[in-house]
Amino acid sequence: MYFSKYVKIYTCCLALLGFCAGNSAAQQAGPALIPMPRSVKTDTGSFIFNAGTLIRTDVKEQHAVDYFTGQLFSRWKFNNKVATGTTGDGGLVITTNGAEQLPDEGYRLSVTPAGITLTGRNVGLFYGMQTLLQLFPEPANGAVAIPCVTIEDAPRFGYRGLMLDVSRHFFTVEQIKDLLDMMAYYKLNRFHWHLTDDQGWRLEIKSCPELTQVGAWRVPRIEFGGNTLPPQPGEKATDGGFYTQEQVKDIIRYAAERHIEILPEIDVPGHSMAAIAAYPELCVTRNKDIKVNPGSSFAKWFPNGSYEMYEDNSLNPTDERVYTFLDKVFGEVAALFPYLYIHIGGDECYKGFWEKDAAVQSFMKMHHIKNTHELQSYFILRLNKIIQSKHKKLIAWDEVAEGDVKDSITIMSRFGEKAAISQIRKGLDIVLAPGGNGLYFDYAQSTSDQEPSSHGGDAPAWKAYQYNPEYSSLSAKERKHIMGVEACIWTENIPDVSKLQYMMLPRMLALAETGWSDETAKAYPRFAGTALPLHLERFDKAGINYRVPTVFNYTDSTIATGSFRFEVAQPPVQGARIYYTLNNRPPGDYDHEYTAPVTITVPKGKTITLKTVVITPAGRRSIVTRTVLDNSHKSENK
Ligand code: ACM
Repeated sequence: MYFSKYVKIYTCCLALLGFCAGNSAAQQAGPALIPMPRSVKTDTGSFIFNAGTLIRTDVKEQHAVDYFTGQLFSRWKFNNKVATGTTGDGGLVITTNGAEQLPDEGYRLSVTPAGITLTGRNVGLFYGMQTLLQLFPEPANGAVAIPCVTIEDAPRFGYRGLMLDVSRHFFTVEQIKDLLDMMAYYKLNRFHWHLTDDQGWRLEIKSCPELTQVGAWRVPRIEFGGNTLPPQPGEKATDGGFYTQEQVKDIIRYAAERHIEILPEIDVPGHSMAAIAAYPELCVTRNKDIKVNPGSSFAKWFPNGSYEMYEDNSLNPTDERVYTFLDKVFGEVAALFPYLYIHIGGDECYKGFWEKDAAVQSFMKMHHIKNTHELQSYFILRLNKIIQSKHKKLIAWDEVAEGDVKDSITIMSRFGEKAAISQIRKGLDIVLAPGGNGLYFDYAQSTSDQEPSSHGGDAPAWKAYQYNPEYSSLSAKERKHIMGVEACIWTENIPDVSKLQYMMLPRMLALAETGWSDETAKAYPRFAGTALPLHLERFDKAGINYRVPTVFNYTDSTIATGSFRFEVAQPPVQGARIYYTLNNRPPGDYDHEYTAPVTITVPKGKTITLKTVVITPAGRRSIVTRTVLDNSHKSENK
């Protein structure tokens, strides 16, 4: 789905990103919290926090307080004393007293000039600490002034997820931990780990060692977009990697300390080329020449979304050895991962090799299976029994909800409203991850050709922000089937952390608010105009890569006008400068700097092209926007 590159808007009231911002508005908007809490009441004054502020707590789980003091030390070099018990005055009190009535994951935070009180239980306390950390400004003279505020908070959805594909490109244990830290800071609580695909099997399975000895490695290629050379005869597979079970346990522990549960995905029966490269007997063609795919083309995709594969990447659903294999793999996965759900993929399974195979056809006849779609259902139901035998629940992509679903399965729903409603009306629970609503972070963040390589599409942060998964046609009862939301990061075009950060930020912050904040608490002007600039400033200082927002929502547009007021209330990154040209050149820091509103007059019969760029204190640049101010419109020139 591609949008027209040049969005033509014949109106003068095109929204500028920071239009509703401004310092006084920023103050009125309250603290720059993301995600926005359920209720924020600001007050005058502040509490002065420094290394001498005593922390008093009755919280039994010492590690929760340790996590908080660890953050204070690593970020502000504050080494505060912690006292057991809450008697006494002032300081910071972290307490479970009065938390019984709070909703799941909820907390209450009160900052007065006399002291701070954080009330909650377990994960609620953890999120209260994250909010408190977001209230900490940069220290001046060894102290921070925390503005007085009363916050009551709890999440909208229980499932607030982020999926990372580590098959197309591998990410190390440390890189995954950094990602988990970032998720926790923004109150995301489910890490969906896409561990296997055609381009690499990334999880050690002790009973099937070739899965990682062979399946984790592919021939090295620079580009990955389908035009690369397939593996050549005798070429060594040196590119890849995998996680040992010990490393996975370490990551699970790390995530659990941050109240993040990990949803592992083993993608079957399609997307299984890496497994087949290790064990060719798992597919109907038993082709021993199949290698882990290095990003070369192995399928033809048609405009209607159908596809034809030249290489077999589907498991054989009629072979008992496949179920023995799956029992071993999912047995180890179930033993390793504590989370109730296991994702089994189920997407984009090519059935052409099944259709051509005589043994498969006679199996179908014998079992009264009418077509290969029913055969995939047979596979999914068999696998569901395996998953249930491990005391786990199966979750999978949309395709497994096609047809007559009798078993209890859960859907990771990516096709949008119509599919989601149909899944819910079959009685299924779903997590919503629709790419069309901005939740595929491998899509480009605008339609501009200056965006780095992507899976196409157009998924600006505001789309992810404005997405409301509670579709209006659903009844209150039907809405209960919505577990939450998730964004997916497919990594065909994401070879490293720098690109990962660019594609993820700031969209992940929009996701955080879509998952956590009540619809009534969401307001894009507050998010983008006043909260986001401060969070992006923090990334800028911390050397974290991100996409610098532009000052226009539409990066290419035409406005029919003879006079245009170019006005930006606040740069999209705190401290950034905005430069522009009116002569069609891409602007740089030697061009006009925007310092105050500018009225651009366009002579009759002419056009003027306004180009803008945002340059941050760290030197990061936005893409260049192009706004054609058009006074040549025929109706106006008569
Ligand atoms: C998917 O986008 N193939 C899940």
